[in-house]
Amino acid sequence: MAIKTVGVLGCGLMGSGIAQVSAAAGYKTIVREVEQGFLDRGMGRIQKFLTDGVAKGKVTEEAKNTTLGNLSGTTGFEGLKDCDLIVEAIIENVEEKTKAFAALDALVGADAIFCSNTSSLCITELASKTKRPDRFGGLHFFNPVPLMKLVEVIRGLSTSDDTYQKTFAFAQSLGKEPITAPDKPGFIVNRLLVPYLLDAIRSYEHGLGTIEDIDKGMKLGCGYPMGPFTLLDFVGLDTTYYIANIMFEEYREPAYAPPPLLKRMVLAGRTGRKSGQGFYKY
Ligand code: 3HC
Repeated sequence: MAIKTVGVLGCGLMGSGIAQVSAAAGYKTIVREVEQGFLDRGMGRIQKFLTDGVAKGKVTEEAKNTTLGNLSGTTGFEGLKDCDLIVEAIIENVEEKTKAFAALDALVGADAIFCSNTSSLCITELASKTKRPDRFGGLHFFNPVPLMKLVEVIRGLSTSDDTYQKTFAFAQSLGKEPITAPDKPGFIVNRLLVPYLLDAIRSYEHGLGTIEDIDKGMKLGCGYPMGPFTLLDFVGLDTTYYIANIMFEEYREPAYAPPPLLKRMVLAGRTGRKSGQGFYKY
């Protein structure tokens, strides 16, 4: 079965990016949000990225129009019934994801593939809650999706070879560079990135240096595009805290334990760029 129509669940930061790159690659793409307001905001983000891209000379007017022409939004599940592949990018909550996949299981064709963009939940567990565990895999994109080249392709215990190959090829068809990651918390990138970010917070708590100097050190000394605190604010402190807790729960290693300051900043609502304050003010 060739993939022609792609569904995306969730039009937040990740979902809108995934829908954009899917539509840009020529797939008829339908993105679903729970409320029209969320959908409008996500579609506005895509529109802005493309308009900015044209202004920067990075996107042609024709490519912008083709992308927008391939894209449509809906607030119901019905509109996704003809999809050949569905990428879920909703809230990181097993129950919510299970409910969404259950609604789709009853609607879409038996051959359709389900993928989750989860950054930390167990693909095998999510697959086991559907009627198609063999046609279920992980496709983990990176923020900002239209600019980051990487996609992690995750095989759950029950993912079939055919599903794995199709999802890998799908990621390539989006112009991304896929890598194969195991179904273990953090996959490959977060397994290495999250302890580094947590360690930056712990080191700061222990007086290693100022936030600005630690950021400057890693940026200019290692050539990283962002220092750890800028990146924490960019990813979201709540997201990092959530991923760290899942990793710590499974591995029980101190490297994954969220430092006290991270928990307190999340409790204070200082979740980073999206809230206007994290380690920096925006
Ligand atoms: N359309 C097309 N191209 C665009 C564009 C647009 N609207 N906006 C920017 N670009 C292009 C720029 O022209 C530029 O291209 P060039 O390299 O060919 O000149 C490139 O994208 C970079 O854009 P900018 O120059 O505007 O911005 P920066 O150079 O500051 O880069 C960044 C921004 C890509 C976000 C960079 O800072 C970066 O890579 N940061 C790290 C991000 C990261 O680590 N993400 C992963 C987070 S972890 C995650 O997502 C996993 C999850 O599970 C937690």
